[in-house]
Amino acid sequence: MTENFEKLTPEIISKLVLPKMFCENVEYFEETSSTNDIAKAMADSGAKEGTLVIAESQAHGKGRWGRNWESPKYLGIYVSIILRPKLNKEIIPFISLISGIATAETIKEEMGLDAKIKWPNDILIREKKVSGILIEGSIIQDRLEFLILGIGINVNNETFKGEYLHTPTSLRIEKDGNIISRKNILERLLVKLEKWYFLLLKEPDGKETILKRYKELSHTLGKEVTLRAGKDLLKGTAIDIDQMGFLVLKDKKGKLERIPSGELTNES
Ligand code: BTN
Repeated sequence: MTENFEKLTPEIISKLVLPKMFCENVEYFEETSSTNDIAKAMADSGAKEGTLVIAESQAHGKGRWGRNWESPKYLGIYVSIILRPKLNKEIIPFISLISGIATAETIKEEMGLDAKIKWPNDILIREKKVSGILIEGSIIQDRLEFLILGIGINVNNETFKGEYLHTPTSLRIEKDGNIISRKNILERLLVKLEKWYFLLLKEPDGKETILKRYKELSHTLGKEVTLRAGKDLLKGTAIDIDQMGFLVLKDKKGKLERIPSGELTNES
């Protein structure tokens, strides 16, 4: 069944027009446990920024909050990138925002689909989840040693096995049912990631530009939400993303809460 799908072999990847940052060290697997776990082990052993781990399938693809990320062979994009921003951990919410922007823009531009970002960085099309992002890191005394940016995009999936908080979908389902080439999507995703990452690191007004773009693509702002942050369940209206990259929630009494990370269980 899977024979008809193109592979993303190192040869094919080497022919993509990738930003220099991401083409120097590419690790490719037909099958692996989790690209995030592989990238983390590589980062622990000193692998450099921009190292790209890509797999055709993952036996234990990891989602946020200990969930599983369904990763059937050749059907999705499963990629993890090692980042080593020379900054402290306050940058993490912004890495999360730029990953969402890069993924949503990629889907919009490659597929012409209306991708939106559910805070912090789930990508939705017509209210269904097409892509998820898992950021893991190593922090020593408030300083970031490295971050692992893991992105999963459902591309050619036609069905899903698991039970989900958000109904899953794929680009193929949302487009017209025809098989979609993953190459161009991967290429554009990496170009976008580099663009937004460099903007964050190098431009004095990078954060302003990022916040503006994120808000344009947001599915969450203006909505009534229920949010799980640690053990707490918070309810309110999502009114803004602040200068720290935190979600600003206004409860019924008008009290504002600023939330660095969490999971929305409901939006209406
Ligand atoms: C989520 O929405 O829960 C995050 C899903 C992240 C999945 C990707 S697939 C590539 C990378 N490797 C993993 O094990 N997880 C991420």
